[in-house]
Amino acid sequence: MPIFINEDLLQFHLQGKDFSYLFHVMENEQLEHLYYGKKVTHRESFSHLIVRPNEDIGNATFPFEGNGRFSLEAIKQEFPSYGTSDYREPAIQLWHENGSRISDFRFKSFTVQKGKPGLEGLPASYVEHDDEATTLTIILEDSEQKATLELFYTVFENQNGLARSSRLTNHGQTHIEINRLLSSSVDFPTKEYTMLQLDGAWIRERHLHKRELQHGVQSIDSKRGTSSSQHNPFMALAKKGANEFSGEVYGFSLVYSGNFLAGVEVDHFETARAYIGLNPFDFRWQLKANESFQAPEALLVYSDQGYNGMSQSYHHLFQKHMARGKWRDRERPVLINNWEATYFNFNEEKLLNIADVAAEVGIELFVLDDGWFLNRNDDTTSLGDWFEDKKKLKSGLEGLAKQVNDRGLKFGLWFEPEMISKESLLYKKHPEWVMKHKGSNHSHGRNQYILDLTQEEVRLCILNRLREILSSANIEYVKWDMNRNMTEIGSGFLDNRQQGEVAHRYMLGLYEMLEQLTQEFPDVLFESCASGGNRFDPGMLFYMPQAWTSDNTDAIERLNIQYGTSYAYPTSMMGAHVSSVPNHQTGRVTSLSTRFHVSMFGAFGYELDATNFTEEEKEEVSMQIAFFKEHRQLLQFGTFFRLKSPFESNDTAWMVVSKDKKKAIVAFYRKQAVPNPSFVTIELAGLEPDFLYRNHNNGSTFCGDELMHIGLQVPSFFTGTGINEHTQLVGDYQSRVWVLEALDWGKKE
Ligand code: DGJ
Repeated sequence: MPIFINEDLLQFHLQGKDFSYLFHVMENEQLEHLYYGKKVTHRESFSHLIVRPNEDIGNATFPFEGNGRFSLEAIKQEFPSYGTSDYREPAIQLWHENGSRISDFRFKSFTVQKGKPGLEGLPASYVEHDDEATTLTIILEDSEQKATLELFYTVFENQNGLARSSRLTNHGQTHIEINRLLSSSVDFPTKEYTMLQLDGAWIRERHLHKRELQHGVQSIDSKRGTSSSQHNPFMALAKKGANEFSGEVYGFSLVYSGNFLAGVEVDHFETARAYIGLNPFDFRWQLKANESFQAPEALLVYSDQGYNGMSQSYHHLFQKHMARGKWRDRERPVLINNWEATYFNFNEEKLLNIADVAAEVGIELFVLDDGWFLNRNDDTTSLGDWFEDKKKLKSGLEGLAKQVNDRGLKFGLWFEPEMISKESLLYKKHPEWVMKHKGSNHSHGRNQYILDLTQEEVRLCILNRLREILSSANIEYVKWDMNRNMTEIGSGFLDNRQQGEVAHRYMLGLYEMLEQLTQEFPDVLFESCASGGNRFDPGMLFYMPQAWTSDNTDAIERLNIQYGTSYAYPTSMMGAHVSSVPNHQTGRVTSLSTRFHVSMFGAFGYELDATNFTEEEKEEVSMQIAFFKEHRQLLQFGTFFRLKSPFESNDTAWMVVSKDKKKAIVAFYRKQAVPNPSFVTIELAGLEPDFLYRNHNNGSTFCGDELMHIGLQVPSFFTGTGINEHTQLVGDYQSRVWVLEALDWGKKE
């Protein structure tokens, strides 16, 4: 039973595998947060954890006259609001028609239920059986403003995830304007934490940044209408002394693909408030009488085994409780994508020539990217006109798919359904469908504009086109792309007071489309993409089990990107392709082997013109694919450990271990050659100390404890004294991969 309640004292104890989360109803009937951290034993009373000063608090304000020891600013809040003596960042801010901005949500009741209810209209974690989770709902009421606030908490059985969200209902006769309704807020007792975040840009996504908490507000957000490649909707707080393998780390992830806010405020008492939710910036929601507003879900993870422990919990949650459908647990097909091979310049013959080589080397899925539809010969036209272009595809999509299938490959197709080009039939017919404010200027981005998905008519029209295309040919994979950020956010169909709702209504419209399409085509493997990783978030993962990690396919850049991404997301979700050299994003030349060694930790494929392969390359690629297929389950679904960070040194190492610990694959990468280099050993992780592992590369055997404590020896690098038949690891961008398999389980030799 992961939720304990001391009913008479109204104390709530949520207990996960390794954590406890405690709060209670305090004397003013609001909620006080008591503790979030390592699991503690349940007690019949936690009243001793309620700390109040013995004397009046200096220069403070107080809700009760004459009680100078009770000030909200000195109390850890569970779901704070502004204006009644707490001055920190609130979780809720409402504007009432009488001009009041004050909320006073007091405890009314609670319910506990087995399982986990879904969130209406929004992606959220789920369980398949009710015994996998327990959900507590706290119902609070602001009787003056006639509104209820529900706080949802789900504890997953035997896991370290805690799902939170909030919902506001207006029971009055007048509108309530929601300015802010976050999903989670947690008050930590000290500021002794490091904040970790994943930041970047296009082709430089999810780079790791850490900072010590400082007084004041430190936050990340998106105002772009996408969760964004600038900041991922995720942050972690690591207690002083924590590292990759030990110490306490708290993760905060928002299951949302649009504007978000995540931050920490350190106040004058040096407590730290960590919060995450919809971005209040430019957000105003008119909640009419009897309507409810559901905030997105925040997924919190606690780890007492460092960052790796946190990441592994997220990987499990996202793989088993977020991704859905037929492909959730399946190994993903090795694909070839024609984008970097041809860009817009292709015809049926060219594609089939690539497919011929792809089939020969063992590729399983051929993906036709941008440029297959009416007059789309560059990025200036045609978005919205989802009709096959017979000038390029003489047999049409059906004929092309059939010919690809005849070669033993599945066929997949690219779409960018949320967009419209001014140069398109759709725009001629419906210029009013473009998302825009009521002023005259309209900023540009990749020559395309965003469709107003707040409108059902627009959604339906696009969905119907997609339905027709997907039913017209044997299309078994869809890449759903999205290539510009929002500007001048507004809708010609909503009234003036609702313009602050548009960005969120857009997301609700998008989610509705994704739900319908993925349910109607349950066998199709969907991959999400947004100029690479501009919308790499759990919200999209709910509908599509994998995402294109970045438009940057350079192996060395991918070390940073995939390493950073792994803090929250599993390898099965990360699209990773071997592309040609010189690399199209950096001009860098790396070996085919290094490119493979990086991409194989992901939803793996190739993105190059395979017809250019030499015979040797063809042979090498065939061997890569055979290797990948043999180990695919482990590479995509094994337990992932980061061992050496590309953000801290010239070397990167990571590994995956099978659930039964009998098999592991370790990878090492060195960015720049080092003259007269030292020996390198990598201390492995996650192995069974007693198992005897055989190193496939050379047949040597090691005990698990040796590999973890003494380490795996990387072969000696080129020493600069002349190349001979023993020389290895020469030059920049070197990599090595080892397969380790347990020989004799349970005992040493
Ligand atoms: C951006 C994507 O990230 C690329 O992979 C490619 O699909 C292009 N769009 C096509 O326009």
